[in-house]
Amino acid sequence: AGQSPLDARGRPLRDLRISVTDRCNFRCSYCMPKEVFDKHYQFLPHRELLSFEEITRLAGVFAGLGVQKLRITGGEPLLRRNIEALIGQLAQLRTPQGQPLDLTLTTNGSLLARKAQALKDAGLQRVTVSLDALDDAIFRRMNDVDFPVADVLHGIDTALAVGLAPVKVNMVVKRGTNDDQILPMARHFRGTGVTLRFIEFMDVGMSNGWNMDEVLPSSEVLARLRSEVDLVPLAPTAEGETATRWGYADGSGEIGLISSVTQAFCGDCNRARLSTEGQLYTCLFASQGHDLRALLRGQGELPARSDAEISAAVGALWGRRSDRYSELRASLPPGESGGARRVEMHYIGG
Ligand code: GTP
Ligand code: 5AD
Ligand code: SF4
Ligand code: SF4
Repeated sequence: AGQSPLDARGRPLRDLRISVTDRCNFRCSYCMPKEVFDKHYQFLPHRELLSFEEITRLAGVFAGLGVQKLRITGGEPLLRRNIEALIGQLAQLRTPQGQPLDLTLTTNGSLLARKAQALKDAGLQRVTVSLDALDDAIFRRMNDVDFPVADVLHGIDTALAVGLAPVKVNMVVKRGTNDDQILPMARHFRGTGVTLRFIEFMDVGMSNGWNMDEVLPSSEVLARLRSEVDLVPLAPTAEGETATRWGYADGSGEIGLISSVTQAFCGDCNRARLSTEGQLYTCLFASQGHDLRALLRGQGELPARSDAEISAAVGALWGRRSDRYSELRASLPPGESGGARRVEMHYIGG
């Protein structure tokens, strides 16, 4: 412990994203399309999930290896029963230098109004809410379960009111589906303290029918915004940041562009992902995980391992990491997925 490993491309491990459930009450077509995730779909049984104690133990090991930021994801993390108890445990963790970790959560906002205060009280610092449209009809179509936009907006307001700040909003932009919502979303959140971030539709997983024609490049998002407002580039706040930041020239806030398709940001990617059942993925587009649950629980002849042993195992596999899928995608022939089956996003989280 105390060692901070670099991967095969010299990148440190700083950010651990933890999926706490593979379930979601939405069926966004770019993530959990209804045709695939229907009533016959087998979600993980409870015994397969990492317990809160197991998650906290692993997060502590990762903190010892240099992780400074924890993001709780899903699926929809607020569907996991008593999630605030996990937040409470994670809030106790410290870096080797004695600092608390940056502790945040990505949610679809549907249960946020109900949960915001309990999450704040448990020690959550901030939230990111996924919201793809302000127009109710478009939003209902995109979540594909007819969920009203007003409830998500109420969730965002509640998060702001209880001080889960800064609140970020993620909008996945699909050309022809919600690109007419770019300007209304920007107008709505300007001056509220919420940072709106536009995400290029990505080819995560194997079931979302990804197609380059539906990707609206961030450069075009920026051009549309600039047709209406003055924006100035802002410096990155953290190394390995996913979003390029732009500020309103009049100081009324900022927006972000997450351009994983047209401008890959693998070069300084410091993120690891822990799946709901304890598989470690070193890339969002990985096809193979590493079974940390087997180390925690033991498996067959193999005994359960100590924290020091798990730390050494994670350090070693991070040292072998050379993932840079988004950079490589750009050079694949059209229609080519790059070979192996990629893991689904709802399973390892965004
Ligand atoms: P903060 O800015 O600190 O809130 O965190 P973040 O930039 O990691 O933001 P967030 O977790 O909200 O991620 C935003 C979105 O960017 C995710 O939902 C993904 O769609 C995308 N994203 C995040 N990390 C990666 C990554 O490592 N690779 C790719 N290709 N996309 C990513
Ligand atoms: N492309 C881009 N972003 C995606 N997300 C989920 N699937 C995709 C995709 N195919 C985003 C969600 C949420 C976060 C967890 O990841 O909208 O903001
Ligand atoms: Fe659920 Fe988020 Fe996936 Fe939509 S993007 S289906 S809200 S996990
Ligand atoms: Fe990191 Fe993989 Fe995303 Fe590149 S594609 S930024 S390596 S998670």
